[in-house]
Amino acid sequence: MPRILCVGIATIDIINHVASYPPEDSEVRALQQQVRLGGNAANTAIMLTQLGDAAAWAGNLGDGPDAGLATETFAQHGVDTSHAAVVPGAHMPTSYVTLSRATGSRSIVHYRDLPEYRAEAFDAIDLRAFDWVHFEGRAVDQLKPMLGRARGMCGMPVSLEVEKPREGIEGLFAEADLLMFSNDYLRTRGGRPEELLQGLPGGGMATCTLGEQGALARDFEGNIVRVQAHRPDRVIDTLGAGDVFNAGLLHAITRGAPMAQALSQANRLAGEQCGREGLGL
Ligand code: FRU
Repeated sequence: MPRILCVGIATIDIINHVASYPPEDSEVRALQQQVRLGGNAANTAIMLTQLGDAAAWAGNLGDGPDAGLATETFAQHGVDTSHAAVVPGAHMPTSYVTLSRATGSRSIVHYRDLPEYRAEAFDAIDLRAFDWVHFEGRAVDQLKPMLGRARGMCGMPVSLEVEKPREGIEGLFAEADLLMFSNDYLRTRGGRPEELLQGLPGGGMATCTLGEQGALARDFEGNIVRVQAHRPDRVIDTLGAGDVFNAGLLHAITRGAPMAQALSQANRLAGEQCGREGLGL
């Protein structure tokens, strides 16, 4: 069973389900409210355990009572959090999510005062306990030494999620064996997804999700493969679908699947996720 370490954030997601997305300066009543653990790396780690992999999460936790939701949820799913760092006096980051029942779209207002996970904390992890390390693309100055250590010291395969444009993140692209780009990143960068994947430095694998347009990937040999979006009967909840895609991809790639197969499995999992409420199988 592949052992995968996911490095990134955990958040408290406060999800308000509304009939349709409210206009500005209006007041609407939520139909339902949920409070659950979120965060890209956290969601990906939880999904990996559901797929049958051994997953660990490393990142910063606050030390207030809200951190309990994080540690309890991770524990329920069997995600190892022994490498998490607790920041004294800090709160958990919070995402206020408006989930539209009409479209399944999720709009997120994220607030955080928790500092980013630091390379010094990552240095203390014995990476020999893992077969793969997955990084959420956030604080570039911290990620650079982390990626360097993982790859340089023990030749560990690493993946990097590039969801949002972050200053200098392009400088990390050659350091990853697998890059996972989001539609958002592609939009802000401009150009066609094929150009993004073909123009990457290094010979690694890469994927780009395109929402309703499906997803595409570049395999080891530089071939581009494409899949159509997997549409559920009804789109109910798109929150975390990208994190589920990443878990599906890691699950398949770490088991040696060819990219075309991994892409198709990840795409199907993410599509199915959009058709049900809450994260999971
Ligand atoms: C979904 C998600 C949420 C979280 C937000 C953080 O992908 O991880 O769970 O609140 O994104 O950016």
